[in-house]
Amino acid sequence: MIQNRSQWGTRFGFILAATGSAIGLGNIWRFPYTTGENGGAAFVLIYILCVILIGIPVLIAELTLGRYTQRNPVGAIKAITPRGLWKILGYLGVIAGIAILSYYSVVAGWTIGYIFKTAFHETTNFGAFVANPINEIFYFIIFLSLTMFVVLGGVKSGIERWSKILMPLLFIILFGLIIYALTLPKASEGIKFYLQPDFSKINGRTILAALGQAFFSLSLGMGAMITYGSYISRNTNLISSATIVAFSDTLIAIMAGLVIFPALFAAGMEPAQGPSLVFNVLPTIFSQMPGGTIVGMFFFILLAIAALTSSISLLEVGVAWAVDELKFSRKNATIFLTLIALILGIPSALSQGYSKFLSEMNLFNKTGFLDIMDFLFGSFALTFGGFLLSIFIGWKWGAKNALDEINYGIYKNYEFLKSGWSFLIRFICPIVIFLVLLNIFKIF
Ligand code: TRP
Repeated sequence: MIQNRSQWGTRFGFILAATGSAIGLGNIWRFPYTTGENGGAAFVLIYILCVILIGIPVLIAELTLGRYTQRNPVGAIKAITPRGLWKILGYLGVIAGIAILSYYSVVAGWTIGYIFKTAFHETTNFGAFVANPINEIFYFIIFLSLTMFVVLGGVKSGIERWSKILMPLLFIILFGLIIYALTLPKASEGIKFYLQPDFSKINGRTILAALGQAFFSLSLGMGAMITYGSYISRNTNLISSATIVAFSDTLIAIMAGLVIFPALFAAGMEPAQGPSLVFNVLPTIFSQMPGGTIVGMFFFILLAIAALTSSISLLEVGVAWAVDELKFSRKNATIFLTLIALILGIPSALSQGYSKFLSEMNLFNKTGFLDIMDFLFGSFALTFGGFLLSIFIGWKWGAKNALDEINYGIYKNYEFLKSGWSFLIRFICPIVIFLVLLNIFKIF
C-alpha cells in the first residue's frame, strides 16, 4: 500500500468531511425541485427507501474499498483486478465528477449572486438574473476558483477545516426557517403535498429520479466516497460512520422541503417548475419575514459554503487519480482539471435564457444544456456507476473480503448488520438498480 498517504485528522473530522460532501445543493436545491416535479410525498417516501436499501450499503461499500486499497477510484479497482475492463468504471467516476462539477459550480454561482441580491434588495426575478451572461459567468468562475483553492490546500487542512463549524450553523438556520414557514397562510397545503402520499403519481421515471437523487445527495456512484475512504484510518467504524452521514444528509434534505413547500403554497407558486424552484421561493420568504435581509444573506452564504464542501469532493476524485496514476503534482492536477470544468461549464451557464439554442435544446425529456447534463451525469451516470460498483464490490472483490476490511474499527459483533449489508450489496442493490435502469430505456 502507498506509504505516508495523508489522512483525516480525526474520526470526527472524517465524518464531517463526508457529511460536508454529501450535504450541498443536492439537499437544498435539487431535492425540493425534484420532489416538486415528481408529485410530492410519494416521491419522498421512495427516496427514503432508496437511501436505506441502496444508498447506505453502497456508501459502506465505497468507503471500504477506499480504505482497503488507499487509492483513488481507478487505482482502487486496479488494486483489486489489475487486468480487465473494470477500471473503466473508475474512469467513468473521474469523468462524471468533472462533468457534475461543471454545472454544479454554475448553480453554486447563483447562490453567491443571491447573497448580494438579498443584501442589496435587488428585485430582478430569477429568470432575468440567470439570463444575464455576465452574472452567470462571473459567479461561476468565482465559485470554481474557490473550489480550486481549497483542493490545492490538500485533504486535511483544506477539506476538513471548512466542514467543522458550518454544517451545524446550516442546521440551525434551516430549523428557524421551518418554524417561520409553518406559520405562513396556506402552509398546510404545502405540508399536505409534501407529506401525504398519492401513489398514483409513481412510475418508472419517479423511481429513477428518487434513486438518482439518493446517489447524488450521498455523493455516490462515482468514487468520491472511495477517495474519501482512502484517507480514513482503520480504527474508524465504517458502518456507523456511513449511517451517520446518510442520516444527517437525509435530515437536511427533508428539512429543506419543510421550508420550501409551505412557502411555495403560501406564495401560490407552481411545484413542478424545475431548477428555478428554490431561487423563486426563498427570496419571497426573506422579503416578507422580519429581519429577512440578514437571515437571507446568512442563508445563501451558508448554502454557498455547503456547496463548496461538496464541490471539492467532485474535484478531489480527479485530482487523486491524476496524482496517483499519472504522477501529476497536486497543483498541476488541480489547475488542469479545474480548467476542464470551466470549459465544460460555460454552455451550462449560458443555457438559462441567454443562448436560445442551449436553453431550448431537448434530450431525454430534459430541456436546456444544464438540465441535460444533470440528468446524464447527476442521475444516470451515478446510478449506472452504483450498479457496477455494487457488482464489483459484492461479487468481484467479494462481500467476504470487504467484510474483512469492514471488521477493522468494529469492536462488537454486529453479525446481523454485516450479513444484512452483504445481502443488500450482492442482491438488492444490483437487481433494483438494474430494473430501474431498464425502465428508463423503455421510457425513451
Ligand atoms: N452530494 C452533493 C450534494 O448533495 C454533491 C456531490 C458532491 C456529489 N460530491 C459528489 C454528487 C459526488 C455525486 C457524486 O450537493
